[in-house]
Amino acid sequence: MKISICASEGAPYAKSGGLGDVMEALPAALARIEGNEVVLFLPYYNKIKQNTAYTVEKVAEFRVQLGWRQQYCAVMRQTNRADGVTVYFLDNDYYFGNRTGAIYGDMDDGERFAYFSRACLDAMAAIDFIPDIIQCNDWQTALVPVYLKAMYQAKFPHTRCMYTIHNIEYQGWANANFFDDMLGLPWEYRGTLDMRGSVNVMKGAIETADLVTTVSETYARELMYPYYAHGLDGILASNAWKLTGITNGIDTNTFNPATDKALPAHFSADDFVDGKAKCKAALQEEVGLPVKPDVPLMVMVTRLAGHKGLDLLCYIARRLMWEEDAQLLILGTGEAQYESFFKDLAVQFPEQVAAKITFNLGLAARIYAGGDIYLMPSKSEPCGLSQMNAMRYGTVPVVHATGGLKDTVPPADENGEGGLGFTFQSYNADDFLAALKRCLKLYKDNPEGFRALQKRGMDMDFSWNVPAQKYMDLFKKMLAW
Ligand code: GLC
Repeated sequence: MKISICASEGAPYAKSGGLGDVMEALPAALARIEGNEVVLFLPYYNKIKQNTAYTVEKVAEFRVQLGWRQQYCAVMRQTNRADGVTVYFLDNDYYFGNRTGAIYGDMDDGERFAYFSRACLDAMAAIDFIPDIIQCNDWQTALVPVYLKAMYQAKFPHTRCMYTIHNIEYQGWANANFFDDMLGLPWEYRGTLDMRGSVNVMKGAIETADLVTTVSETYARELMYPYYAHGLDGILASNAWKLTGITNGIDTNTFNPATDKALPAHFSADDFVDGKAKCKAALQEEVGLPVKPDVPLMVMVTRLAGHKGLDLLCYIARRLMWEEDAQLLILGTGEAQYESFFKDLAVQFPEQVAAKITFNLGLAARIYAGGDIYLMPSKSEPCGLSQMNAMRYGTVPVVHATGGLKDTVPPADENGEGGLGFTFQSYNADDFLAALKRCLKLYKDNPEGFRALQKRGMDMDFSWNVPAQKYMDLFKKMLAW
């Protein structure tokens, strides 16, 4: 099967969050399936261009029509990727070159990714790669299925398109005149993209894609409710037949405590007690906490954004520190209010709290490995990957039972049996605290039960093999239409 994947980010080249991780592992997992030919299109961000680790050759050059504009595009094929995925970077310095460094957040993001979406289709035609399937992701590539239906049928008459929602909070809104000025679509698509008088590109993708997926089964159900769907519940309800949830995996090669180069010691599911203890001591030392093997270390690696459940943690943090002999370590950047809260907390409780307000992949790995308990009280969580990373590294998750957290962390009882972590049902700080206390009690009173729980998490298969097969099943279903 010929599969084209279009995305605005992909590790290791450029990543701002979970989408970047998925775009590293899913294409590779699909490429491992016999008979598949997988190509990945990414913007050629300056940061990628400057990185000498990636060698490229120019394979095509053309202009992309955007309303009245024609914008340059060069297709750069990476010549040194070895896992069977062919990566094409789309080069345009005006859109992806001279920017501030962050992937998103520019005034003209709408234009940048409208350009990219259309350029992906033009690139496929230019290199003569006529895919059976196009898989695209989130608002940034939401215009791919729209253009495919509206303007590229002659070139790609049999190509089917899957649209995947990683997070419905970001939908790609624009003024109504974006439609005329930028998109150049046939007039009858105005209604397809219109939402309350504005353009909403995610809505357009849901309407025009052959199938829509999201990144966990529970999130697919949650999206039928206004609380989760951020205004798109009606659109999704009328397209419910198209919608499937496929829970993400993690890259179990990158995230492997037996080989991870960032770790000071290595361990595996069969032999982890010593290795994990060494990682914990080194981590406490690294972040400036007292090195205490028996004090439970609660950790969190996160963007400091509201929907990650930080308000719950802020609400209980002081009480938790007063009442429990435990340590808390946070790594992440984001909203100023949370950054300063956790910095202050670390000043108030220097023996118990460390806050690393930065983005550091190596430290993140050492935290997954050195922590005892992983906190993830997200208000909503389409899938969430770090709870799986944590479990793979033997760190027990305490999570809000929502979205992918519900699907990947079945609840354990107070003896640590019957599940993989501790959960709470309603989004409420006291319930979060109660779940956390159940976990801390197990840690202190029943070390054997805690170790058994750690081992069960480490024994789980979170690899992409299973989800990749589910993507294949849906691809086949579309091709049979
Ligand atoms: C988004 C979601 C996250 C999901 C990731 C990858 O970042 O917020 O829950 O794991 O996409 O699909």
